[in-house]
Amino acid sequence: MNKAKWKVDTKIIHDCLTPDEKTRAIVPSITPAVAYSFATAEEAANVVAGMEEGIYYGRYGNPTVRKLEEKIASLEYGEAALALSSGMAAISTALLSCLKTGDHVLVTKDVYGGTYSFLTTLAERIGIQFDFVDCTNPDNIFEGMLSNTKAIYIETPSNPNLTILDIEQIAKVSKKMGVPLIVDNTFMSPILQNPLLLGADIVVHSGTKYINGHGDVLCGFIVSDADRIDMMRKKIMGDLGQNLNAYEAFLVIRGLKTISLRIEKHCSNAKKVAEFLATHPMIDKVYYPGLKSHPGHEIAIKQMRDMGGIVSFEVKGGLEQGKLFINSLELAMISFSLGDPETLIQHPASMTHAQIPKEERAKYGITDGLMRLSVGLEDSQDIINDLEQALKKVDIRMSV
Ligand SMILES: Cc1ncc(COP(=O)(O)O)c(C=O)c1O
Repeated sequence: MNKAKWKVDTKIIHDCLTPDEKTRAIVPSITPAVAYSFATAEEAANVVAGMEEGIYYGRYGNPTVRKLEEKIASLEYGEAALALSSGMAAISTALLSCLKTGDHVLVTKDVYGGTYSFLTTLAERIGIQFDFVDCTNPDNIFEGMLSNTKAIYIETPSNPNLTILDIEQIAKVSKKMGVPLIVDNTFMSPILQNPLLLGADIVVHSGTKYINGHGDVLCGFIVSDADRIDMMRKKIMGDLGQNLNAYEAFLVIRGLKTISLRIEKHCSNAKKVAEFLATHPMIDKVYYPGLKSHPGHEIAIKQMRDMGGIVSFEVKGGLEQGKLFINSLELAMISFSLGDPETLIQHPASMTHAQIPKEERAKYGITDGLMRLSVGLEDSQDIINDLEQALKKVDIRMSV
């Protein structure tokens, strides 16, 4: 059988997960070992030097984690993958693999808050320069390039406004300029979008979200060419101690088996929710790439297999109405995460972006009524009914 021709649903179940050679157990066992023994000092030296296959110390790799890494590399069509302790560990490691003191990175304007914080505090402290640029127009990237630019970093769809960036076009710019393109693919998961196939050089994920999919593991992934991943493993992740442990890798391997089914349901539920919100009189604006009115709709159709499970929208009225709406929800839970089986909602103006002044927030499209909804796996009608009853409460309060 030609495994190279397997479709993605078959790859998810079987790729890189063959039964144990001794016991024939189908589910891989957890290997918690930190230390590994060697027949000779020469063998140990060769494994550390990378001249022989093997694992030598838990901070630089683990057999259970390696299985997961192989699987993620396969799903993202990359040579190799690295599993780390969080999405932020993946993002910081990927950026540090390209940048040193005095280097510059060009970053998409509406990037995840943790990435923004890493760049503006830690990276700045070690002398890494950055500029936030509107990457919806690739010409802005050309114009923003400096002689010391060593990487381009984008996120698409973005968090929370679901801005869509044309990966293929931006990859053309990055190739022309000879700098690597890093793409945060968290919102799509490897099931819906594969940036390496579109010309990107490095893909990062918060595996905490759709990849694990059950809200019980923090993890991150980087997928790239084997040499770059090896360097990150030994010189950044290993030295900073950002490795994922075997127990959590096991949970992710387990969670991954249903990713295709989960993503299908997240997408179909999100579509129904977006269509409901788009016609509701109490909603000012809906951000969902599946709607024809979304400015990135055509690019989304070109590079994404489906539109994902996140719908952002603006409730009419100010901050108080926004809070009233979110506090009135009975099924959707107020939470900072996304990609879980439960429907989760967050109100950036009073939660993640509350410390930023209103005018500053507006520059990034964070209005007082903006909500980010991570549509879960419940029945779509129950989710819609919940939104409807909460919107009614806002409506009544506004007309009083
Ligand atoms: C797009 C995106 N990238 C990265 C991260 C960071 O992931 P983690 O919380 O696993 O560090 C998040 C978290 O919400 C995210 O939404």
